Amino acid sequence: MENIADPELRNLIRKVHSRTGIDLGQYKDSYIARRLSTRMKVLGAMTYGSYARMLDAHADEYDKVVDAFTINVSEFFRDRDAYRVIREKVIPAIVADKVSTGRRSLRVWSAGCACGEEVYSISMILHDVLGKEYDRFAIRLYATDIDDAIMKRAQEGLYDPVSLKNVEKSFLERFTKATPDGKIAVNDTVKRNVTFRHYDLINGGPFGGYFDLILCRNVMIYFSEPQKKKLIGHFFDALNPGGYLVIGKTETLTADTRAAFIPAYGLERIYRKPERSLV
Ligand SMILES: C[S@@+](CC[C@H](N)C(=O)[O-])C[C@H]1O[C@@H](n2cnc3c(N)ncnc32)[C@H](O)[C@@H]1O
Repeated sequence: MENIADPELRNLIRKVHSRTGIDLGQYKDSYIARRLSTRMKVLGAMTYGSYARMLDAHADEYDKVVDAFTINVSEFFRDRDAYRVIREKVIPAIVADKVSTGRRSLRVWSAGCACGEEVYSISMILHDVLGKEYDRFAIRLYATDIDDAIMKRAQEGLYDPVSLKNVEKSFLERFTKATPDGKIAVNDTVKRNVTFRHYDLINGGPFGGYFDLILCRNVMIYFSEPQKKKLIGHFFDALNPGGYLVIGKTETLTADTRAAFIPAYGLERIYRKPERSLV
């Protein structure tokens, strides 16, 4: 917030923060300007000051401005290459480690989960890789987002077919069902052990730990560099030694956080926390 020079914009951000708890000031400057301008155009506001006044006059505008920042676009198995590596390398390596150490708790966090497409994709992979062994593990998949409305939909698990276009046929047959109104529903097998929780990645503080796999994809692109650095630090702390962090295809770690991780599968943006401290 200190970096924002325009007093009208600061006032607007403060207003939205105190009303909704969401701190727009932590997003990138260019992103703030773009997102706000979409709302301002709709209402015909020429300045941040006039938009701030309009917020009070339009009861649902606070929700709309927050919606404009939390773009919920996602799909199952988004970026096939990353999911292929997760399925063929990452999950088998995690499982092999669990078997060899006898520690059978396996925890995944989908941070910025949108409508649940990411966490349900991982759930399908876990069932596929583990097969009959699935029940011999204590599996927990946490999926968090700042947007409560979208998480409600995630819990229902109903999707337009297009969002499952990357799902292979055998997975569709095993894990989903077509509904009479043309949607696709994920079944209870996939939903098992998945918990959705409201969590603000900017102001939420540390989430707690012991994760074997954290996915935070296509979320941090909107965050400022200091915010990104803080968040990646939280992910590092939340991972078990040897745990994996997956970020989006077009995203990068910050220069100083990169040094803390091992690039396990660099092209797919999959990083690993070292087994032992590097320093
Ligand atoms: C583009 S979606 C990414 C969904 C999924 N991870 C993927 O890669 O397909 C971005 C998600 O991040 C969430 N988000 C944005 N800012 C957030 C914040 N501060 N805390 C938690 N979630 C946030 C949005 O609500 C949205 O659901």
